[in-house]
Amino acid sequence: MPALTLERLLASIGYGSRKEARALVRMGLVEIDGKVLEDPFVEFAERPATITVNGEEVTTQEKLYVMLHKPTDVECSHNARDHQSVYSLLPDRFSAMGIQSVGRLDADSEGLLLLSNQGDFIHRVESPKKGLLKRYRVTLARPFTPEQEAELLKGVMLKGERREVLARAIERDGESVIISIGEGLYHQVRRMFAAVGNHVETLERISIGPVSLDESLGRGGWRFLTDEEIQSVS
Ligand code: URA
Repeated sequence: MPALTLERLLASIGYGSRKEARALVRMGLVEIDGKVLEDPFVEFAERPATITVNGEEVTTQEKLYVMLHKPTDVECSHNARDHQSVYSLLPDRFSAMGIQSVGRLDADSEGLLLLSNQGDFIHRVESPKKGLLKRYRVTLARPFTPEQEAELLKGVMLKGERREVLARAIERDGESVIISIGEGLYHQVRRMFAAVGNHVETLERISIGPVSLDESLGRGGWRFLTDEEIQSVS
């Protein structure tokens, strides 16, 4: 393995090519523990935990596991056409490091979105085999009747799908309804409520398996997942 030089370290955490990273160092923009590093070829025996680039302290981990509180009117796409891209809510360097969302939330939906640059993690969380339940809080345009609830729990056929899908659990919480589902089909929750004659007005994902949306994150806020959270969905 080539030695971990400062320019390699910076490039590995999304600060451009090694040449671009070298330029940052030569401009005096890179510090560790308050000390400007001037030599882009200085070698590290181990990755330092953090480094300061252009006044911002950043972790140097190469593997990204992130939780974002997605707001509405934001698209889960790198090339968003009609709205702002969800990736614009994260540091640019994360895109350079290959971050992707784990599944998607519609532009009209908000709530918990997980993102990572580790394909195996994304695959495991998305895998139906893993069977992680996703919980969504919805508000509805019409009263939610016991018949609608029973139909959702029994299973409904959605247009274009081969199998019925069902609600694994339904809870009522004041004016809202919380539905748990196992799959992640396109517009699944909206289509399920439409199939029983209701209409979803607002939709917020509140958890994926054991990982819940961190209430301290405002809309558009993000944080790294804890090791415990990563383990719990992997
Ligand atoms: N179901 C939907 O209808 N929309 C989402 O964004 C997620 C699940």
